Amino acid sequence: MSAAAERAALENEALLDATVDAVVIINHRGHIETFNRSAERLFGYRAEEVLGRNVNILMTPRDQANHDAYIARYLATGIPHIVGIGREVEARRKDGSVFPVELAVGRIRNTEPPRFVGYMHDITLRRTSVAALQRERDRAQQYLDVAGVMLLALDVQGRVSLLNPRGCTVLGRMEAELLGRDWCEAVVPEDDREIARKILTHLAELPPGASCTCEYRIRSAQGEPRLIAWNCIALRDPENLITGLLCSGEDVTERRRVELEAQRSQQRAMHVSRLATMGEMAAGIAHELNQPLAAITNFAQASHRLLGVALPDIEEVREALRQIAAQAIRAGEIIRRLRNLVRDRATERELTDVNELIQEMLTLTQADARLHGVRLSLDLPSGLPRLELDRIQIQQVLLNLVRNAIEAMEGTAGVRPEIVIRTTLPADGGLEISVSDNGPGVNPEIGERMFDPFCTTKESGTGLGLAISRTIVQAHRGRLGYRAVHPHGACFYVRLPFGSEDSNR
Ligand SMILES: Nc1ncnc2c1ncn2[C@@H]1O[C@H](COP(=O)(O)OP(=O)(O)OP(=O)(O)O)[C@@H](O)[C@H]1O
Ligand SMILES: [Mg+2]
Repeated sequence: MSAAAERAALENEALLDATVDAVVIINHRGHIETFNRSAERLFGYRAEEVLGRNVNILMTPRDQANHDAYIARYLATGIPHIVGIGREVEARRKDGSVFPVELAVGRIRNTEPPRFVGYMHDITLRRTSVAALQRERDRAQQYLDVAGVMLLALDVQGRVSLLNPRGCTVLGRMEAELLGRDWCEAVVPEDDREIARKILTHLAELPPGASCTCEYRIRSAQGEPRLIAWNCIALRDPENLITGLLCSGEDVTERRRVELEAQRSQQRAMHVSRLATMGEMAAGIAHELNQPLAAITNFAQASHRLLGVALPDIEEVREALRQIAAQAIRAGEIIRRLRNLVRDRATERELTDVNELIQEMLTLTQADARLHGVRLSLDLPSGLPRLELDRIQIQQVLLNLVRNAIEAMEGTAGVRPEIVIRTTLPADGGLEISVSDNGPGVNPEIGERMFDPFCTTKESGTGLGLAISRTIVQAHRGRLGYRAVHPHGACFYVRLPFGSEDSNR
């Protein structure tokens, strides 16, 4: 061998040894001629052990049987089977263990009979990480598939990048139909688009990881709008920049409909109960109206008489007319209040002076009480804070309580029936309005059940008065309670919190 050839051979050897891949060179019979360092490490053989042996010792029994045939066919036909093609195959170590390798085989140029070189790269690690990734992906996919809520991912432009099966069911569409499309334009009705589009800007203002909730409608393929309650978080890249939006959505169409229906029927019940209370008070109200009407009649007759004389006293007539106008205004006022009370209306909260509210309903209750021989007195200290409440509803509660008190004292002999409406600021917070009577008190056998709907001890009672009153008070974040009065009597009280946030002040 010339010096140059020797140097080239040495260089080749060094190169082979430095190669990370296992390199194996075989002749046309399949016998190993070269086995580099990496091959030694990979297969657990020393080169001396394998040189001259059939390369199939590096293969699994299945490949072993075929390998000689591959080479023979290549030699006969020139058609490569694995030559020139990279592929993943199973290899076998000296200790018999099998592992995956990526194999590339090439024919060494200008060799006759041909010699072949094989490069092998252990891909165990790659295989396991791919499998782990695959498992993760499958699991994530399963979560998406079984999720009972809609899961939706959008990119920063608001285009759909994911919609799970539940989402597809709600929308009546396939995920593929929506992928890449503008979510709002595709499914959100125009009125709700602003809410939907604002989520991203809103999330951008929140600290990373924070979520936000909102409700907006989407339109299904059948054109039916569904109300969805959304919970959204921003998706971020490693630099914390927002890359999109992940939202879970729950179809709350039915729930909202039922809630609305319940609210409506509650309102209807309140209205009916108000009408019933008014019915019970009708005699008192009629009496109350009768007074100004009788006065008007009297003053009118007097005027007529005054004008019948030769020189009428104009001043007296003027005074009578003034009285007529005043009484008519009073009658009108009673009717206005009545109308207010029986009107079917949505709740309206306003800052209210509770004492004024009580005074206002007095025209009605006073007449009712007087008619039943009950003394009604007020104990309303001034300077109470105003409360945010629905005037008519609270008046309805108090009317119910006064009605109950009047009814409780009917037929009680001995004591003079009396009702006191009182406002106080109890030490443990809030404002209290109480209605106490000196009747027999609530039958202890009934106890707390009196607040249940349809619990009544009266022949023609509905048993709804207290139940509805309690609902109204609770809607004001307050409490309707009862305490017995010593030596006998009942006291119902309404506790209302101050302010809209703090109920313990
Ligand atoms: N001031 C009171 N004194 C004694 N018992 C009372 C008093 N207020 C209520 N009760 C008892 O509580 C029950 C329930 O009252 P609630 O107002 O809910 O229904 P009701 O008055 O029986 O029927 P409705 O209000 O439809 O006329 C009454 O039947 C009565 O037994
Ligand atoms: Mg009642």
